Amino acid sequence: MRMVDMIQKKKQGEALSTDEIAAIVEDYVKDKIPDYQMSAFLMAVFFKGMNKKEIADLTLAFVNSGDKNDLSSIHGIKVDKHSSGGVGDKLSLVIIPLVASTGVPVAKMSGRGLGHTGGTIDKLESIEGFRTVLSREEFIGNVNVHKMAIVGQSANLTPADKKIYALRDVTATVDSIPLIASSIMSKKIASGADCIVLDVKVGSGAFMKSTAEAVELAGTMVDIGKSLHRETIAVVTDMSQPLGHEVGNANEVKEAIEILKGKGAEDETTIALTLASHMTVLGGAFKDFDTAYSELAQRIRSGAAIEKFKELVRIQGGDARVVDNPGLLPQSKYHLEIKARESGYVSAIDAEKVGVAAMLLGAGRKKKDDTIDFAAGVSMEKKVGDVVKAGDILCILHSNLENTLQAGQLIKDAYSFSDLKPAPIKYIHQVVR
Ligand code: URA
Repeated sequence: MRMVDMIQKKKQGEALSTDEIAAIVEDYVKDKIPDYQMSAFLMAVFFKGMNKKEIADLTLAFVNSGDKNDLSSIHGIKVDKHSSGGVGDKLSLVIIPLVASTGVPVAKMSGRGLGHTGGTIDKLESIEGFRTVLSREEFIGNVNVHKMAIVGQSANLTPADKKIYALRDVTATVDSIPLIASSIMSKKIASGADCIVLDVKVGSGAFMKSTAEAVELAGTMVDIGKSLHRETIAVVTDMSQPLGHEVGNANEVKEAIEILKGKGAEDETTIALTLASHMTVLGGAFKDFDTAYSELAQRIRSGAAIEKFKELVRIQGGDARVVDNPGLLPQSKYHLEIKARESGYVSAIDAEKVGVAAMLLGAGRKKKDDTIDFAAGVSMEKKVGDVVKAGDILCILHSNLENTLQAGQLIKDAYSFSDLKPAPIKYIHQVVR
């Protein structure tokens, strides 16, 4: 195979064979293909796209480039979830114990965050003592006994995707649906679960800004799942404003605890219950979605869900007292109130700007090696549809930095107001299966 021929073929919109795609990925990982040729190829994919078979072949080539998690010694149907990423998305912290409380096993591998806030692993590490590195025996053992475990992604999971993603990042080829879909699904397939529920976010704080794009990405990932024999459902959910009230790490853990106690915000509670319902139906615990939804809501009301979260924290070495005393979570030195300059209804909140503000406060990483300040973040006192009077508190910035000027300005810019009450936000846009 000559790489120049592959670039030429894709440039002309022709489909590549399974062997050609496997060779491109393998040779790139082995440094036999230089970055400049791979960049040209990625740009050709960006403009010409890929058909379903090519996308599945690319996904499998990523999976085959590294370790595959063997979950066959776990009893039952293993279910996994993935979010395409959003601001204030703490739903994995809620869904893992909620699903596990029904007996459906969740063996979760999760990445660290790069961007607005930490990922699920970072958020959990804000709980004193919580271990996110477990031996394989402990991981499998915990899932068999407790129906849940969460660890950081192994370093050698889909190394080809990692290398290609880094190149996409600097060649303006991230926002290609075939490339995003194969990248996300390769990590899910290599993680080993039997069934996958995808939360595809849409709106100002998401990769996908329009519902049409989000549905296309969702459909592409569901098709990959089908081709590679994993039952996959994608739910397109709202990210037009930050999810819930807390954006950060420790404060998101506190809010996840609230959701599991039945005191969460409506948007995140609805989305968490929806995703968990699909997972438990796929996992065989309930006969249909409606039954699952009401049974899971009952587990929140009865206290079973929060007890399961306590169990998760305890078995992974964390201080479970945070559940009853969230004041034990890391707290920042400064709390700065951002007040409304005008009265009216909150008509929109640019989630992206809130996310960047949280990152500037220390809650996220700009670069891979940056450290996260678990105590930093934003508490959203007002959300879309709320009435505000000039002088009301919109947000509270939590930080250990003295200078929060830039973050404060971003928050002010993120809010829009109107005299008319905005239409209610739809939390679930579409289910793709
Ligand atoms: N998340 C991923 O894992 N890969 C992409 O390409 C985009 C988002």
